[in-house]
Amino acid sequence: MAHHSTSPLTLLFIFILMASGAKMYARAKNITIVNVCKETVWPGVITQNNSYQGDGFTLKPGQSASYDAPSGWSGRIWARTGCNFNNSTSTCQTGSCGPSINCTGPGSLPATIAEFTIGGDADFYDVSLVDGFNVPILVRPLGGKGNCSTAGCDGDLRQSCPSELTVKANGKVIGCRSACDTFNRDQFCCRGSYGDQATCLPSNYSSSFKQVCPAASSYAFDDGTSIITCSAEQYIVAFCASRNQTVCSYHDNKLFCDQSKGLKSFSQSWWLFLVLTLPLTLNIGVIF
Ligand SMILES: *[C@@H]1O[C@H](CO)[C@@H](O)[C@H](O)[C@H]1NC(C)=O
Ligand SMILES: *[C@@H]1O[C@H](CO)[C@@H](O)[C@H](O)[C@H]1NC(C)=O
Ligand SMILES: *[C@@H]1O[C@H](CO)[C@@H](O)[C@H](O)[C@H]1NC(C)=O
Ligand SMILES: *[C@@H]1O[C@H](CO)[C@@H](O)[C@H](O)[C@H]1NC(C)=O
Ligand SMILES: *[C@@H]1O[C@H](CO)[C@@H](O)[C@H](O)[C@H]1NC(C)=O
Ligand SMILES: *[C@@H]1O[C@H](CO)[C@@H](O)[C@H](O)[C@H]1NC(C)=O
Ligand SMILES: *[C@@H]1O[C@H](CO)[C@@H](O)[C@H](O)[C@H]1NC(C)=O
Ligand SMILES: *[C@@H]1O[C@H](CO)[C@@H](O)[C@H](O)[C@H]1NC(C)=O
Repeated sequence: MAHHSTSPLTLLFIFILMASGAKMYARAKNITIVNVCKETVWPGVITQNNSYQGDGFTLKPGQSASYDAPSGWSGRIWARTGCNFNNSTSTCQTGSCGPSINCTGPGSLPATIAEFTIGGDADFYDVSLVDGFNVPILVRPLGGKGNCSTAGCDGDLRQSCPSELTVKANGKVIGCRSACDTFNRDQFCCRGSYGDQATCLPSNYSSSFKQVCPAASSYAFDDGTSIITCSAEQYIVAFCASRNQTVCSYHDNKLFCDQSKGLKSFSQSWWLFLVLTLPLTLNIGVIF
């Protein structure tokens, strides 16, 4: 009896040792968040654990901020739009996470979400449309090893959102809801008898998302090719950016630009704008 009961505990102990060992060797990663949109966005960041400890920024067009993701960090980054933080009841038009600039919980739907897990040997990231779409997000690794593709989308799903799914404010489309959020049916939400990869198939709605954003997950059991495994020095999360632009980020008085050679499918040219926006960034005192 004793033998049988200690065995799982031993396994658990070994697992904890291995997990903490992996964390010891993994490094923290800088995530630079850049606003290329024409409007101000208020990025929200939450850690995917029970406490949902979070952060948030105000980014005017062209501004950037950085977030230090500790090793083992798993979390999400999204944009809030149309915010007003002047009083305690204030919220945002999309992505709202409460009255504070710092998020302590997930944002309201619809919102495009960049998801990260910073691991030991490799990091995982993807851009998800499972909770809908509010602004285009691209996630780009700098100095990566592995298949470090750019994740996300430079198409604007607000322009091609099926009318049943649109969210409007003052006559303007501000977001595109997911079919699950809109119709709350098992078939779209991948639950009940549609609760696995084999039974939850793309719908015409998720397919229309995939068409605009091929490198993002369009529904809960999307094929998995949108989740990238890569070990990069640092990451850039850009709102409303185009894949064609070169991105540079600035850390420790050094400029790091995207010069990856492994990205053949997106290799036309690279992004160049953080260089231009650097003075702005320093003016508002964002720490690099
Ligand atoms: C959640 O994550 C934050 C940031 O990584 C960390 O400081 C905090 O201790 C974590 N909380 C729990 C309950 O794990
Ligand atoms: C409310 O806050 C926004 C920023 O969130 C600011 O631009 C605006 O001027 C404020 N309005 C008032 C009436 O204070
Ligand atoms: C807070 O702002 C909302 C809308 O922005 C307004 O309706 C409300 O009266 C304001 N409350 C206070 C206490 O100023
Ligand atoms: C938001 O969180 C950061 C640290 O993550 C902290 O420095 C800042 O003071 C917080 N701001 C507010 C308004 O709570
Ligand atoms: C999806 O299919 C439903 C009926 O099956 C139809 O009513 C709807 O217009 C279609 N939506 C799109 C975006 O094609
Ligand atoms: C890299 O990953 C992307 C997205 O999953 C995929 O489309 C591409 O074929 C992969 N490239 C290589 C060389 O494996
Ligand atoms: C990106 O570059 C390609 C090739 O140079 C060009 O055809 C395309 O129009 C560009 N896209 C954008 C959004 O600038
Ligand atoms: C991220 O950038 C800050 C500021 O340059 C720096 O202090 C920190 O060490 C960097 N973190 C990592 C993991 O590179």
